[in-house]
Amino acid sequence: MKTYMSIAALAATVAAQESVRYLGRVNPATRELTWPSSGLSFTFTGTEASIDIESTTGANSIELTVDGEPIVILDVDGSPISTSVLPFGNHSVSLRKRSEAQYGTIFLGDVTSDGTIRPDTPPSRQVEIIGDSISVGYGLDGVLPCTDSAAYQNNPKTYGAVAAKALGADYTVLAWSGKGLVRNIATGNPEDEKLPLIPALYSRYGANDADGSYTFPESWNPDVVVINLGTNDWSYLGYNENGSYPARDPIDPATFTAGAVDFVHSIQTHYPEAEFFLLNSPMLGDSWPTPEDAQKTTQTNAILEAIELLNDEKVHFLDWPSQGSDVGCDYHPNEATNAAEAEVLAAAISEVLGW
Ligand SMILES: *[C@@H]1O[C@H](CO)[C@@H](O)[C@H](O)[C@H]1NC(C)=O
Repeated sequence: MKTYMSIAALAATVAAQESVRYLGRVNPATRELTWPSSGLSFTFTGTEASIDIESTTGANSIELTVDGEPIVILDVDGSPISTSVLPFGNHSVSLRKRSEAQYGTIFLGDVTSDGTIRPDTPPSRQVEIIGDSISVGYGLDGVLPCTDSAAYQNNPKTYGAVAAKALGADYTVLAWSGKGLVRNIATGNPEDEKLPLIPALYSRYGANDADGSYTFPESWNPDVVVINLGTNDWSYLGYNENGSYPARDPIDPATFTAGAVDFVHSIQTHYPEAEFFLLNSPMLGDSWPTPEDAQKTTQTNAILEAIELLNDEKVHFLDWPSQGSDVGCDYHPNEATNAAEAEVLAAAISEVLGW
């Protein structure tokens, strides 16, 4: 037996879906949540609201925020994500993915309520964060030693998300663990060298969509673009396919500098007014793997060189000092380390933007 919605009910459903605002990059053709921080938001007048999940792939964790109170769901299993029953009135709801695309994705269904769903007011300030596992929030909720998972990833607690929220800004995160600007993390597998780099991933709508699929819609025109790349480009240890060590040569910093200049230029073709903040890596230090590598200094200098070549007052360097010994899974910055850098980033943005 088929059931048919009344015209009025159908119209209400269509109106409700049109009132929903996507957060981050969500391809409206697929309604697939891929990128960390991608999600949706809306307000409703009523007592409860529910977000249907059409399907999921892999493992996903999300944060649902109802009237400013975050609720963490560590394993999205396909059942609807619902608010509790609230006092009748106006309520705000937002949902953001905590974990990254390589673990899994979520296909959204309809948003429903016993009341009326209405659009919320988007913040006028917009911040975009581009990066690797650090910007994902990889292992952020774990304590070394631990094995990263969708549940241990916590994008809402990353430096970028925390800084954006402190400034009342909306934010988009384009981040993928293990990825680099000019080369991905050293795995010793030559096939991995052929996988897309961050500039290619940046051109996608959903993280698993085709290269070049992002349409750069007018609704997203960030005031600030934060780039935190290089940790993976600098990696070279590990065994290569012949069992010899290390897996590859240390990076030529000039290659990274040239890549950074090209990437900033290409983003500027879309966002000519944006202020850029280029960060160095809290995971690199000057004594590991060897003092001769001086990875922290070498990476910092490569970024400073790119900024000099860009010769643009809208491009700034921001220092993220080498982290301490309290770390998350696989030596990733934990909540406290992210919170400390969020303050530094928010202060720098405030000063430059006058926010
Ligand atoms: C909900 O918000 C709308 C728009 O601001 C307002 O007109 C209405 O009175 C509010 N309703 C309740 C129950 O507070």
